[in-house]
Amino acid sequence: EDQLDRIIRLPKAELHLHVEGAAPPAFIRGLAKEKSVNLSGVFREDGSYAFRDFVHFLSVYEAATSVLKTPEDYARLTRAVLEESAANDVIYCETFLSPDFCGGGDVSAWQDYLHAIRETAEAAERDLGITLRGIVTCIRHFGPDKAKLAALCAAETAGDWLVGFGMAGDENKGRQRDFAYSFDMAREAGLRLTSHAGEWRGPSEVREAVEDLGVERIGHGVRAVGDPAVVEMLAERGIVLETCPGSNVVLGVYPRLADHPVQRLREAGVKVTVSTDDPPFFHTTMRREYETLARTFGWDEADFLDITRTALDAAFCDDATRETLK
Ligand code: ADE
Ligand code: ZN
Repeated sequence: EDQLDRIIRLPKAELHLHVEGAAPPAFIRGLAKEKSVNLSGVFREDGSYAFRDFVHFLSVYEAATSVLKTPEDYARLTRAVLEESAANDVIYCETFLSPDFCGGGDVSAWQDYLHAIRETAEAAERDLGITLRGIVTCIRHFGPDKAKLAALCAAETAGDWLVGFGMAGDENKGRQRDFAYSFDMAREAGLRLTSHAGEWRGPSEVREAVEDLGVERIGHGVRAVGDPAVVEMLAERGIVLETCPGSNVVLGVYPRLADHPVQRLREAGVKVTVSTDDPPFFHTTMRREYETLARTFGWDEADFLDITRTALDAAFCDDATRETLK
C-alpha cells in the first residue's frame, strides 16, 4: 500500500485532454444558470453527466459546451482544469482546443479565445507549477470543410504555445484521408500531428491515420491490437499512443480494465502513454488512472516513470521546455 501511495503521487505528463471534456459538471451548471441556458438531459440526478453510449456522449458533450460562450468563459474553464490537473501531480499537459466551439472557425475570434486561454495557462504555470500547451482539434463528424477552417485557425496561431493539430469526434463518420488537406496545412505551418483512431474502428483506421495523415501520435489507437502487422508498424515507426483506459471502459470499448490492451501493446514494443480524455465524464482523474493501472496490471514505479518519460519525449513542446521537465 505504501508503494501504491507513492505511485499515485508520482509526477505525471498528460497528452490527451479535451478542455471542454474536462469541465466539472458544477462548473457547467453554474455557467448555464448565469446565462439562463437550458441544459435538460445533460445531467443525472446525482449531478454527473448523463450519457448512454458514445454517440450520445458526443451530443451531451456539445450541449454542455454550448454554455461556454466567451473567451473569458474559456479562461475560467482553463483555470479550473489546471487546478484539478495540478492536484493530480500533473506537471505537463497538452489540451485539445476546438475553433468550432471557440468562435465557430473565424480566425480573429479564435485568436481572442486562444489569447485568453494562454494567459490563464501562463499564470497557472507561475502559481501552480503546471505547464500547458495547446493542440487545435477539428471535429470529424462536423466534416472536412469545418476542419479546413480549424486548420486555418491553427496555422495562423502556430508557435511555441499552440503546438499541434489533431482530430477528435465520431470515428464512424468518414475516413481519415478526407481530412488530409487540413493536416497538410497544419504540418506546413510547423504543427505536430495526432488523430483519434482505433477507439471505435479497427486496426486499419490506425494505419490510415499514420499513412494518410502522417500523424506521429494517435489518440487511443488501442484497437490496433487486432492486427499484429499494424502493431508492428506502430512499434517500428515509434508512433506514440495516447491511451485513455478509464475512458475506454466507461464508453464500453472494453468491458473491464483487465481486458484493455494497454499492457499487451507495451509488451509488443509500442510507445504508450496514459491520459484521462474527459475526466469528469468518465469519473476519473490521473491519480485514479495510475491507481487502477497499478492494481490491474501490477505496474510499479519504474513502469510509470517509463510512461512519463515516453510522454515527455512525445510532447509537442520545444526541447528547452521538455528539458526543464525531465
Ligand atoms: N471528444 C471528446 N472525447 C472524445 C473521445 N473519447 N473520442 C472522440 N472524440 C472525443
Ligand atoms: Zn479524446
